[in-house]
Amino acid sequence: MNQDALKREVAAAAIDEIRPLLARDTVIGVGTGSTANHFIDLLAELRHDFQGAVASSQATAERLKGHGIDVFELNHVGSVPVYIDGADEINPHLEMIKGGGAALTREKIAAACAERFICIADVSKRVTVLGGFPLPIEVIPMARSYVARELVKRGITPVYRDGVVTDNGNQILDCYDFLIEDPQRVEFDLNNIVGVVTNGLFAHRSADVLLLGSDSGVERLLRPE
Ligand code: 5RP
Repeated sequence: MNQDALKREVAAAAIDEIRPLLARDTVIGVGTGSTANHFIDLLAELRHDFQGAVASSQATAERLKGHGIDVFELNHVGSVPVYIDGADEINPHLEMIKGGGAALTREKIAAACAERFICIADVSKRVTVLGGFPLPIEVIPMARSYVARELVKRGITPVYRDGVVTDNGNQILDCYDFLIEDPQRVEFDLNNIVGVVTNGLFAHRSADVLLLGSDSGVERLLRPE
């Protein structure tokens, strides 16, 4: 099965996973990317079974609305029982690197608010140690060079993602040459650099469930205690 077919398989498994949580007043959180897009397309069939969604990006909001799914401002929503999103890498603790699609800040906010985070990913995303995929950092534009210098001091090679402006009007630095042995510490440290909006490490708020697609089917993994 090719990667796109695996993404669709895990999206379908996520639909089965959330179906029991849906009620007329349920608002769910929806992530960004090609795997999340498959999920949104399948979610369309259930649009009459729940109230709507909060979106982690403008692109996701547009796709949801295109399927007739109502999109709510997070500030107007009381609780979000579940958030479904993809990942660029995920380790055995269900800690992730996200933000390949530059939506990391809104994704992190939506994930923080959700009672349960379901990560949907094909097997290529599973790693032992995070950092093979360059870690994205969203920065306030005027701080970009300062943040880059601070990263270099830490032995990291930042590369400006030229031409990309996030939904929040900010810029992205991608961090290369950076294997992340202690994701919680690194997430905290990088977020403390002045000018950083957030980084793409999801270690403090890791996933609760991983639906992992491979040629042998979809595996359901829970975050270890
Ligand atoms: C976007 C993300 C995505 O979840 C991540 O990039 C995975 O994308 P895809 O499902 O297309 O492989 O974090 O900011």
